[in-house]
Amino acid sequence: MKAAPYRVCFIDSGIGGLSIYEAFRTLAPYVDTIYCADYSFFPYGTKTEEALLDRMLALVDKLSALHPFDLLVIPCNTASTLILDVLRQKVSFPVVGTVPAIKTAGQASHSKVIGILATKGTVSRAYTKKLEDEFASDCTVVRCGSSRLVELAEDKFQGIPISISEVKKEVHPLLSDKNLDTVVLACTHFSFIKEELGSCLDRLVQWVDSTVAVANRALSLLPKDVSSTNKIGASIFISTSTSIPRKLERILREKYAFEVEKIDF
Ligand code: DGL
Repeated sequence: MKAAPYRVCFIDSGIGGLSIYEAFRTLAPYVDTIYCADYSFFPYGTKTEEALLDRMLALVDKLSALHPFDLLVIPCNTASTLILDVLRQKVSFPVVGTVPAIKTAGQASHSKVIGILATKGTVSRAYTKKLEDEFASDCTVVRCGSSRLVELAEDKFQGIPISISEVKKEVHPLLSDKNLDTVVLACTHFSFIKEELGSCLDRLVQWVDSTVAVANRALSLLPKDVSSTNKIGASIFISTSTSIPRKLERILREKYAFEVEKIDF
């Protein structure tokens, strides 16, 4: 493996993956990072599998040419459940994906009724079905796919008030089984509206996600000597759309200390 400086690239459709990015930065502050929000192809959850696959492969090539990196993290369930196998065969660097924490939910549930709250893409993926068969065959699985919640999470991140009644409408399918006690947050955007989601259910449930597991997995792949550099790593936020709200840009610079770069891709 190559010695520091070492760069890790994160790709999601928008701000969703920042929860994993932040967890990783806390564990490995000395590593250089780039975070790409693919706003010109947002949202991923409504795209056909073919279109999303082509887009991701092209984007990975583009980013590798622009800012070569050593490790790719995909903090996005919608993309990971589709592209991981294909990508790993194509590229020479390691790829860490984010997939629904169905195994954890199956183990944590007492009632053996679990929910999967994700994008429409993720809930319908063969990969997700395989995880259910493998790790939750003893559970009833209630699936809820929403694209609107992804948009609402983007709004909330920018400080735009979001409508609780709208959130309620979106999570309604989760209430179809009164024994449901555990929900997999299988879209990284939803971490940003967890409070609202919780307040819209008629009972307390356990929420499980993959944030810490993904950050730790990425950490485990870093070369040992990366932490010996005593300098905080550079962090660049790349938007694939050149027209992003000013407010968003300000939050990214001020709260996340990103250098913001906009490309037309
Ligand atoms: N943050 C994403 C996920 O984890 C994608 C949301 C979207 O663009 O639809 O699935």
